Amino acid sequence: MALWSGRFEGGVSEFTQEFGASLPQDKAMYAQDIRGSIAHAKMLARQGVISQEDAEKIVAGLEAIRKSMDAGEFEWNVDDEDIHMAVESKLTSDVGEAGARLHTGRSRNDQVALDLRLYAKDQITSLMEENCRLRASLVSAAEKNLGVVMPGYTHLQHAQPVLFSHHLLAYFWMLTRDFHRLAEARSAADANPLGAAALAGTTYDLDRFYTTELLGMDHPIPNSMDAVSDRDYLLDLLYACSVSMMHLSRLCEEIILWSSTEFSFITLSDSYSTGSSIMPQKKNPDFAELTRGKMGRVVGDLVSLLVTMKGLPLAYNKDLQECKEGPMDAARTLGDCMTCMRGMVDTWEVHPQTMLEQASKGFTAATDVADYLAKRGMPFRQAHEVVGRLVLYCEQHGKGLEDLTPEEFRQASPLFGNDIAKDLDPAGIARARNTYGGTGDEAVRVQMGEAKAALERD
Ligand code: ARG
Repeated sequence: MALWSGRFEGGVSEFTQEFGASLPQDKAMYAQDIRGSIAHAKMLARQGVISQEDAEKIVAGLEAIRKSMDAGEFEWNVDDEDIHMAVESKLTSDVGEAGARLHTGRSRNDQVALDLRLYAKDQITSLMEENCRLRASLVSAAEKNLGVVMPGYTHLQHAQPVLFSHHLLAYFWMLTRDFHRLAEARSAADANPLGAAALAGTTYDLDRFYTTELLGMDHPIPNSMDAVSDRDYLLDLLYACSVSMMHLSRLCEEIILWSSTEFSFITLSDSYSTGSSIMPQKKNPDFAELTRGKMGRVVGDLVSLLVTMKGLPLAYNKDLQECKEGPMDAARTLGDCMTCMRGMVDTWEVHPQTMLEQASKGFTAATDVADYLAKRGMPFRQAHEVVGRLVLYCEQHGKGLEDLTPEEFRQASPLFGNDIAKDLDPAGIARARNTYGGTGDEAVRVQMGEAKAALERD
């Protein structure tokens, strides 16, 4: 029998019972539901709303239920619409009247809001931990490959040589911002709705500050109607997950390119690749592709909740029951993708020689050649024009800048000396850019120190 059956003469149909239930999704947050109920019971007793004895029975009963759920031994009843009813019905059947007093001054509306907030906090904490592990892997890959030179790209065309470590650290900083976005979402979740009851608060002398303290939350939510209907913190979580998935997706795209025959910059380990059922030679970067693909579903989860929330009048509406699966899916997806990326980065094999060879192709020294002229007095705009013509000359003669003789250089401009050769070395070019945040050896070492310090702080 439903816990609200009093005013009804008939029961719901089997179909609507199942259609209206949230128990399948709610099961994931049983521990949070029980934590919330224990805090509520303790507070009720402290305020003299229920007896100490009843509170003790309730707490012991709830702990026993949690144990059986932890052990996977709890017998779920399909008639229970949600986790709140499942726990309360079992409690009442286990400890009798005391169990039936637990819901005093409380509604499932403030209860579900609390469960979701506690659940979001727990999920975000593990995402932040996994984020740090992935960032640590990126830092150690950057450190291991210090000195590896690769082509840097704009428009996916060779632009200027950069250090591979510098490229990897760019992702470190993206993920550092993701970490802080997750932390923001966690503080948004960290407010206590308990005591808001259905929507209006209650006549019982509840101490919302005490439950806040028992639950280790930051503050009680100051408006009971906002408390039961706010899901902004889930949107914050979904946005943080979406941005982080977008970053992973970008890294995956590069991994897919780098591991192609055309690039051959890296080889993924066998444990992060799959074969083809027909083409015996294939080694596919499936897991990078899958992570890139999963970005779509996480953004879908974000859009789905935004649309669910749009136009909802205050306060609780059953539509809000639809807001659980998306954030749970997004958090699980991001967590798994970060774990997968970490494994990929930890085990890939890097091919420094191929990267270096590619780094000089595509006239990547052109900017430095123009700088050479500018440093000898020619206005940079003019130097740009001169080197542009040199590149055209090279293309017409099937040569690279490094194949030109000092005479050919001097034909373009008498300012060129024999020492131009040393400005054509891709490794030298990458290493020399030591402005703060640049790809130069020294600058990257400074950056690495900052990355480690950021990781230490987080
Ligand atoms: N199962 C509901 C949910 O997940 C719990 C709150 C229901 N409240 C109500 N008045 N129907 O949102």
